[in-house]
Amino acid sequence: MTKTFFDYLNRAVMAAMANRLRNAIVVLSIQSVFAGAALAQAPVPVPKPAAPDFKSEWSKQENIYRSEGDKVPSGYTIDRSLSDYVRALAAGFDSKLAALTPADRWLDIGAGRGQAILDYFAPEYDITYPEGRAQRGIKAQTVAMSIEDRRTVEWRLIAANKSANRLQYWFNRRLRDYTLQESGQFQLITDVIGGFSYSTDLSFFMEKVISMLATGGIFYSVLQDVRSEAGTNEPYYEKAPFLTEIVNQKNEQLSVCSWLKRITCVEVICESKKGWRPPVQAYQVQKLCSDVKVPALTPVHFESGTPPERRYQLQD
Ligand SMILES: C[S@@+](CC[C@H](N)C(=O)[O-])C[C@H]1O[C@@H](n2cnc3c(N)ncnc32)[C@H](O)[C@@H]1O
Repeated sequence: MTKTFFDYLNRAVMAAMANRLRNAIVVLSIQSVFAGAALAQAPVPVPKPAAPDFKSEWSKQENIYRSEGDKVPSGYTIDRSLSDYVRALAAGFDSKLAALTPADRWLDIGAGRGQAILDYFAPEYDITYPEGRAQRGIKAQTVAMSIEDRRTVEWRLIAANKSANRLQYWFNRRLRDYTLQESGQFQLITDVIGGFSYSTDLSFFMEKVISMLATGGIFYSVLQDVRSEAGTNEPYYEKAPFLTEIVNQKNEQLSVCSWLKRITCVEVICESKKGWRPPVQAYQVQKLCSDVKVPALTPVHFESGTPPERRYQLQD
């Protein structure tokens, strides 16, 4: 049966709720352990917290990436269409895509099955976006990147009918594993609940993304359930944290948007999307020059999920 967009939303909500419930249980058990310890011991100097050990959460996350058939968790959506991308990403995305020429390159990080790229090559695309059709010609060179190989028969058929660099699928590695020499640069990079939502090291991820953008190129991405730029919203689930959180050295919350705006040589636009449950923030990051410095973030919490729950501390 064809799944509707709302099926995906429901699945995402159910998965997030399960994730949050698990969190609550973990937090409660940690609190009880510490409460018991405090009663039993005389005051001693508080040891410095050990660096968080995320190994077991990473391995659970890896199982999600490698899941197949009915083992794929219901919240792990791998087949969003191009129109889903247009709805989720910032307002300028569809006109930027429609204006790409055959010499331009588009990278979709965390592409899953690569459905958005397939839709771009479908004949219906030119009917939907008649403007700029002549300039688009045979369309841009595209790369779908995914940790796991989710290519479908449809992908293989369409790719087989194009020249090698028109439709590529890179897999078995994460974004961080590609050198700039291998990847080259792109005029457009997208990420819809891909590496930007799943990466453990967000500042290194952004450094890589911007290094792969040509000057003038734009990165479009999105995050679910995060603090807004104005900082006026609360996490979507009661008693749960935001899904991606950044705190400063004093443990005060910062929005992802304000962190992105501290990156040098880029222009950032943040857009709160309406009608999404949980709420969604869209980001547009345009590279203006090459002296890019991304403020470093240290990962302090990672809990596997679809997407995972992450917290980072800004290094001043
Ligand atoms: C939930 S799927 C989203 C797929 C697609 N964007 C969609 O909306 O249907 C997550 C995708 O992100 C990929 N991914 C996660 N972290 C990544 C990283 N650091 N580098 C590259 N791909 C990553 C996964 O392999 C997978 O293809």
